[in-house]
Order: sequence, then structure tokens, then C-alpha cells
Amino acid sequence: MIQKRALVVYSSSAGYTRHIAKDIADMIPFEADITEVKTLQDHKIDTRETIFDCEPYAIIFVGSPDSALFPSPLINSWISICEKIKGKDVALFITYWGYPGTKLREMERMFRDKGANIVGSLGINPNEIGSRESELLLLKRFISKIQN
Ligand SMILES: Cc1cc2nc3c(=O)[nH]c(=O)nc-3n(C[C@H](O)[C@H](O)[C@H](O)COP(=O)(O)O)c2cc1C
Repeated sequence: MIQKRALVVYSSSAGYTRHIAKDIADMIPFEADITEVKTLQDHKIDTRETIFDCEPYAIIFVGSPDSALFPSPLINSWISICEKIKGKDVALFITYWGYPGTKLREMERMFRDKGANIVGSLGINPNEIGSRESELLLLKRFISKIQN
């Protein structure tokens, strides 16, 4: 039997989305690869180490910080150039501080345009979570809902 495999893709500037992405990769009950979308100095994305080929993965988790103030180009760029995403299951997460903007909806639309199936989406505000235990519980519920 072929082993199910997941990809966790994220961008992060201050580190919170990275922290959540690592938790998700650790908590998924099968093998997971994790890849960060970073910029080079000219604001273009660094394609040297990031995974773009979705072919080996049964599910792809994609995370980004939210910003209603300006478009966050990193994850948008990844969505534009990722390969073999058509027909794949995609679960989205954003981290935000106060007022989530339209990032989640924008990501859902971009993935649907590429033929992916959105199987879950989660907004995570550390100010509302309170403790590490509740953070882990939130992620556990998110992952188990997707599996069902
Ligand atoms: C320029 C900028 C704009 C932001 N805009 C919003 C916003 O509109 N709504 C919100 O809830 N949080 C906003 N945030 C907060 C970030 O989304 C939040 O801190 C996020 O968790 C940061 O993720 P990171 O640590 O992975 O970079 C903004 C942060 C920055 C730096």
C-alpha cells in the first residue's frame, strides 16, 4: 500500500505561522514534509529550496499570516506557481491578531481556480487562544475534522 503523505506550506515573518505550521506537521498522523515560502532581496520568492510539486501529496496544508492592509504576496506566489495541485485536498490556515481580513477567502478562491478541493480552513488568533493546551486542542480538532 502507498503511504499517505502530507505537505505543509507556509510563509511567516514574525514566526507565529511557522510555529503553527510545525505543530500541524508534527500532529498529522502520517508522514509530512514542511516547506517555507521565503523572499529574496528583490521581493521575488526564493525557489531554491521550497517545494512546489504537489504530486506526491494526498493533502496540502497552506498557512499564511493575515493582513487586511496589503496583499501578502508570498503565499499568493506559491499558489500561482505550484504544480499538480488539481484534484488535491487543501486545508488552509491563517494567523492574525485582531481582525481577520480577506486572506482566507482569497486563498480559497485561488486554490479553487487551480482545481483543488478545499477541505478545511482555520483562522488562529493567539490573543483568543490563551494557553498552549488550547492551541494544541484547536489544531487537533482542525486535523481530525479534515480526516473525517
Ligand atoms: C503589516 C501587517 C499587517 C497586519 N494586518 C493585520 C490585519 O489586518 N488583521 C489582523 O488580524 N492581523 C494583522 N496583522 C497581524 C498578523 O497577521 C499576525 O501577527 C500574524 O500572526 C503574524 O504571523 P507571523 O508571525 O507568522 O508573521 C498584521 C501584521 C503586519 C506586520
